[in-house]
Amino acid sequence: MLQRLFKSQWQKSIYNAEKLVHSGSGSVINPKELLGKDLSLLTDNIRKLLGSGHPVLETVSNYYFSKQGKHVRPLLVLLVSLATTKQLKTQEIDKPLTNNSGIFFKESKTEFILPTQRRLAEITEMIHTASLLHDDVIDLSLTRRGANTANHEFGNKMAILAGDFLLARASVALARLRNLQVVELLATVISNLVEGEFMQLRNNSSNPLQKFNQQLPPVFVNEQLENSPDFQYYIEKTYMKTASLIAKSCQAATILGGCDEAITDAAYSYGRNLGLAFQLVDDMLDFVVTENEFGKPVNADLSLGLATAPVLYAANEFPELLPLIERKFSQDGDVAIAKELVLKSKGIEKTRQLAKAYCDAAIQDIQVLEPSRARTALIEITEAVLTRTK
Ligand code: FPP
Ligand code: MG
Repeated sequence: MLQRLFKSQWQKSIYNAEKLVHSGSGSVINPKELLGKDLSLLTDNIRKLLGSGHPVLETVSNYYFSKQGKHVRPLLVLLVSLATTKQLKTQEIDKPLTNNSGIFFKESKTEFILPTQRRLAEITEMIHTASLLHDDVIDLSLTRRGANTANHEFGNKMAILAGDFLLARASVALARLRNLQVVELLATVISNLVEGEFMQLRNNSSNPLQKFNQQLPPVFVNEQLENSPDFQYYIEKTYMKTASLIAKSCQAATILGGCDEAITDAAYSYGRNLGLAFQLVDDMLDFVVTENEFGKPVNADLSLGLATAPVLYAANEFPELLPLIERKFSQDGDVAIAKELVLKSKGIEKTRQLAKAYCDAAIQDIQVLEPSRARTALIEITEAVLTRTK
């Protein structure tokens, strides 16, 4: 019975990943064919990594993995691994592979995912899920993935501790990769997640910036606005809370694959740009989809006092929004007025344009990779990120 239940969940996750690549793009790439076995192992292995003598802890820790996640982060790690195999092959063809047990050779027999890269995909999803467990407590959220949040179902204390447990088990799995550079990268991601959340809680551009963005591609929809301290602060925060994990896990996949610096840099940059686009779209969807579609609360950002990209663009058009932003939409009626002005403005469209510009930069980043079906899938994912509705 349990086995049957798990099996159907794996199928759902593959289905979701497939939808992500296919949506709106008329794709010819089938991630199920490309990654079916690897993705179906994901939840199964995570369950094993989360085994505990305490049944309640195991239940709460596994709770979000039993819901329909999009699995964007592990999908990207696996695709980047696959897309960079050829680089490894051409550069290290004469060297023995040290961790080649259990490699799944793909159709062409020249593209494969290393066991360490597969484990990295699992670790990435565990860190992401830990951050959601904590985030839902902070945001007082009641729904996620179309069901009750863990805090709603089990209470704040258990949700927080389950998040800690996920992080701890992810850290053990990370140490077992025996790659210090990768451990350092993913440990930095965890601190970036917390820094991003703090930036969001303070939500104040007078705080010092991390200056990560000196290498950001020059993508602009409204250069003057996007160069303003408030917008820069928003982009920094977005990098910390979302793009850092995607960027550094893509980079870590190429490090585990033995790629040279040109490729590891490209993977990082692709992940950073795609991650920024992903969060811009998330912030846009908060205004335009229903809770039923989104599977989590909508209009949540305004209620939390947050001025995301659609609001910042709208305020440029309708300056009457500025005092509402300043007081974090705290007065009666503020949230409704702000929403109306955002929808009346070009804020949604401009946010989409900026996300598209980051996606174009991400596509540019991976031009250094040799052409492959996995590289095509990485390109098509940018389109899916832009057209997703959940
Ligand atoms: C979702 O944001 C939340 C994040 C992307 C990161 C949250 C990070 C923390 C709570 C810091 C603690 C981190 C760890 C690793 C324990 P959102 O609220 O905008 O998205 P949502 O609508 O999906 O909730
Ligand atoms: Mg939240």
